[in-house]
Amino acid sequence: MFCFREKKSRIIGPGLVHALSSASSSQTQRFTTPSVPPRAHFCSALIFSLFTEESLFFFYVRLIRRLAGKIAVITGGASGIGKATAAEFVRNGARVVIADIQDDLGRAVAAELGSDNACCYTRCDVTDEAQVADAVDLAVARHGKLDVMFNNAGITGSPGWPPLGAVDLADFDRVMAVNARGVLAGLKHAARVMVPRRRGSIICTASATGLCGGMGAIAYSASKATVIGLVRAVAAEMASSGVRVNAISPYAIPTPLALATVASWHPERGLSAEEIKRMVEIDLNVMYGTKLEEEDIARAALYLASDDAKYVNGHNLVVDGGTTVSRSAKNPGTSTPKE
Ligand SMILES: NC(=O)c1ccc[n+]([C@@H]2O[C@H](COP(=O)([O-])OP(=O)(O)OC[C@H]3O[C@@H](n4cnc5c(N)ncnc54)[C@H](O)[C@@H]3O)[C@@H](O)[C@H]2O)c1
Repeated sequence: MFCFREKKSRIIGPGLVHALSSASSSQTQRFTTPSVPPRAHFCSALIFSLFTEESLFFFYVRLIRRLAGKIAVITGGASGIGKATAAEFVRNGARVVIADIQDDLGRAVAAELGSDNACCYTRCDVTDEAQVADAVDLAVARHGKLDVMFNNAGITGSPGWPPLGAVDLADFDRVMAVNARGVLAGLKHAARVMVPRRRGSIICTASATGLCGGMGAIAYSASKATVIGLVRAVAAEMASSGVRVNAISPYAIPTPLALATVASWHPERGLSAEEIKRMVEIDLNVMYGTKLEEEDIARAALYLASDDAKYVNGHNLVVDGGTTVSRSAKNPGTSTPKE
């Protein structure tokens, strides 16, 4: 009986359980509370139950707005995957701070998404630890807490895909400074404010190139493998503090970053923007009947950010249509610019 009541109360809310049992039981209730007609009692309990934490109403709100009340910082949120994720998070009830170096674009995206204080922009170069700390502190100052940190800003480095003998170590340092060191700064400062609250979700954008050689330039691939390594290195420490840390590894999506990169692999071919987009979107695509879009990554981030993933920690969520578990020499992804 107790279990039944408890289960029922979890589903429909304690107020409604009370009302249902009162209304359906004997007339005793009518004698003990003569001034409140049973129907009124039932209705008020029903209305009350709608607004209790466990009610169907809030269950429904959580179902359609999976980040209701959560605060997020998204680095690289002015464009591509970060922008799509900011939109998805806001749609799901989160308040988002976009942290980027493209000021005009970042402000425009924030204004587009930001009705009712839902989204704002701050300049943040992730290679500068102090600026990452400031972006985190801004979220806390503005909203009182930080629930989700999406370390997503990234670059691919100098144009082209140099073979090992031509690798420019200065370019390697630049790529690592944004993609790896920037992520470490985001992990460190998000944890600084999340650990005292003993909750939070940190998500880092890695890449399929971090799992598999021959898919991108050496510096970029190494930086993304480092992101996966960082996530694994800190996940256990964070678990004991109640904070989750995960990675997402996307495959090719025609964002400004990917389009510029693929164009730089074939400078001699003078490809049009349409042809380059087609290469990323269609030629590299491994899945029949669909294609990979920014929104697919945004939904993966939504899952990892939400309480649906409450026990998912140290994971690398690969969104690549199976590319990295099935690549063969004939796969279009293996074609390099050297030919
Ligand atoms: N598009 C793809 O095919 C693909 C695949 C795998 C992984 N990724 C990764 O996804 C992430 C997002 O890239 P995207 O594809 O959306 O490209 P994008 O160019 O649309 O977005 C990248 C954003 O990062 C910002 N940024 C760059 N350097 C920064 C810095 N120092 N500080 C703060 N912000 C900075 C840029 O201004 C830009 O807004 C990157 O980490 C990228 O490596 C992309």
